[in-house]
Amino acid sequence: MKFPIGVLVSGRGSNLEAILLHIKEGKLNAEVVAVISDREDARALKIAEDYGVDAYYIPCLEKKTVLVGEAEKKYIKQFKEKGVKLIILAGFMRILKKPFLDAFNGRIMNIHPALLPSFKGLDAQKQALEYGVKISGCTVHFVDAGVDMGPVILQESVPVYDSDSVDSLSQRILKHEHEIYSRAIQLFIEGRMKIEDRRVRILSGEKKKINSD
Ligand code: GRF
Repeated sequence: MKFPIGVLVSGRGSNLEAILLHIKEGKLNAEVVAVISDREDARALKIAEDYGVDAYYIPCLEKKTVLVGEAEKKYIKQFKEKGVKLIILAGFMRILKKPFLDAFNGRIMNIHPALLPSFKGLDAQKQALEYGVKISGCTVHFVDAGVDMGPVILQESVPVYDSDSVDSLSQRILKHEHEIYSRAIQLFIEGRMKIEDRRVRILSGEKKKINSD
């Protein structure tokens, strides 16, 4: 049986697309059972549709940058009804609050386009360029109540060149995002992560079990 995951999106959807492609290619033993967007015009919704995945536009009118109120309840209900066991944030532009975090405790992942804890928040690639770092990258982490603060699962680094623009650096990082996100999801599905305080230890392949409840 394939592991049921739910994906939250707001925009372009390239990470969602990479996940769906890896599933199709048999590299990821998951099934995307629901995609929810807070924006009607998100390209990610179209991608989900192209792959035949159930996709929903659920607006959150109460606030612009957090998921709260009636919308938050609807998101939880929709994912629960679909039997989702892991939530993937893929360019979702809202902060999750306690009711949602509690509903999927320890089962929410995000990807961030920088090497956390550097350059948290918006425009991470621009922050990295402005700071002048020579290496940046991406981070898959568990989501907790802090913004871009949860335990780090996987990271990948890329060089930053003198000639880089925000766009060229973002593209270089994005290629790695598309790889490490699926890898992290597969490790979770196989039950190969052990969290000790903030440290996520990756267990070797032989001990694998399916992380189904
Ligand atoms: C990615 O850069 C991701 O790291 C960040 O938001 C962006 C989403 O891109 N969290 P996409 O919608 O997956 O193309």
